[in-house]
Amino acid sequence: MTDPSVPRTTNDAGIPVQSDEYSLSVGSDGPILLNDHYLLEQMANFNREQIPERQPHAKGSGAFGHFEVTGDVAKYTKAKLFQPGAKTDVAMRFSTVAGERGSPDTWRDPRGFSVKFYTEEGNFDMVGNNTPIFFVRDPMKFQHFIRSQKRRADNGLRDHDMQWDFWTLSPESAHQVTYLMGDRGIPKTWREMNGYSSHTYSLINADGEKFWVKFHFHTDLGDGNACFTQDDADKMAGKDGDYHRRDLFNAIAKGDHPSWTLKWQIMPYEDAKTYRINPFDLTKTWPHADYPLIEVGKLMLTRNPTDFHTEIEQLAFEPNNMVPGVGLSPDKMLLARGFSYADAHRARLGVNYKQIPVNQPVAPVHSYSQAGAMRVAKATDPVYAPNSYGGPAAQADAHEAGLWQADGEMVRTAYSLRADDDDCSQPGALVRDVMDDAARARLVDNVVGHLCDGVSEKVLMRAFAYWRNIDPETGQRIEKGVRDKLGGASAAPGMASAETVHETEAAE
Ligand code: HEM
Repeated sequence: MTDPSVPRTTNDAGIPVQSDEYSLSVGSDGPILLNDHYLLEQMANFNREQIPERQPHAKGSGAFGHFEVTGDVAKYTKAKLFQPGAKTDVAMRFSTVAGERGSPDTWRDPRGFSVKFYTEEGNFDMVGNNTPIFFVRDPMKFQHFIRSQKRRADNGLRDHDMQWDFWTLSPESAHQVTYLMGDRGIPKTWREMNGYSSHTYSLINADGEKFWVKFHFHTDLGDGNACFTQDDADKMAGKDGDYHRRDLFNAIAKGDHPSWTLKWQIMPYEDAKTYRINPFDLTKTWPHADYPLIEVGKLMLTRNPTDFHTEIEQLAFEPNNMVPGVGLSPDKMLLARGFSYADAHRARLGVNYKQIPVNQPVAPVHSYSQAGAMRVAKATDPVYAPNSYGGPAAQADAHEAGLWQADGEMVRTAYSLRADDDDCSQPGALVRDVMDDAARARLVDNVVGHLCDGVSEKVLMRAFAYWRNIDPETGQRIEKGVRDKLGGASAAPGMASAETVHETEAAE
């Protein structure tokens, strides 16, 4: 007799089923039957349980909480979520970039730091990383970059030669590679790392005044950015590949709620035209001396998912989700991301992915989208605009477009260069001024270890020059370390023509 307090198993149509253990057969020892619809449903569902993983950022996890404004930034933006005292529910996801869905959390990689704010004006998504800059500055190179970090076509292996080949042929990667090869490349936990918009975004206030902004989420735990050494991380990858996922879940489960303080760097709109660094170049930071941090609010995670698939795997972030008062900028990477993510979601989750509960806005939806696979929201007539039957009507003042002016021939070129737009000053300052001796030694060790693992001679030679351009001494130490370890000759003379490293400011 079944316990009446235990719910009865049903099939997906809610019909009670007879057994969780036995298929229907002709006698105990006879063949099974095709009219065992429950068995068929179990097999069919199982065969379709997996959805494609994200390409990239496949491995990760997340949680839910809220964001509360503690500062007063109303003079920069009219966005309701940033008005004094406003409190907004959020979903967050952390991730590695190159590893697959089951890859170890402690592989060296940048970490994704994505926040979805469910605001009364619609969803606002901030899809950032744990580093304030990125490897490339033109979206044409993004796909190539990611392929170089993933797996080879022939043997399906990751390949350091491929990684350094791409990086050393893309000198704009120097800043991010310096972060990646330093301590920041392996955070100890997600709770103890910072997050950054990395890109410059735009703001507009209630009077129509415009500003440029960079977002910084500083962890409230410890001194910030606690990291694993390479050795610790290698051991942990073998011991617990899900270490970061587990750490976040367990901390929240026991009421130890992680939090971050959101700070902004604000650049007056007109400054962008003449500032000595292109403020839209994603490989550069804005020095704090020029644009100090302003406190905005507190982000806190308080609730774990109860179903990983529907709440985390199907959670879909898109940098084009901007609410009135916040907008994109002329950063070419950011603009391309505005196209890419929604396309990825349509491919991975289906055209109606915004109706999956975790992606639904709390703001009412009155769009003219209709039908499509897995549509669950009911469309109502009229299904077209303009109409004379009382359908929703767009309002021209809902969202400002045209935050910047552009004119010129259609071209395929790099950004035009400004006075301080070289690739090596900021990473050089990071090595010399931000890292201490011990951190520099770990950087050298990490790079030497990486380069001694399957990197060809021609790429090695370019890697030594790449590091000497960032910082001559570090470059020499890396070359010596590699040659000592590999037991070979030193790099050919003449490869080490260090670019002038003319500035020693570092900021993030
Ligand atoms: C994920 C494209 C640059 C942060 C993704 C995904 C795509 C993508 C297609 C998978 C989305 C999904 O299936 O859910 C691009 C393109 C870029 C770019 C085309 C440049 C042109 C960046 C940059 C950052 C970034 C610069 C950080 C500042 C992330 C994060 C995720 C992600 C955090 C994971 C989102 C999540 O947690 O679901 N990107 N990306 N990406 N990207 Fe990018």
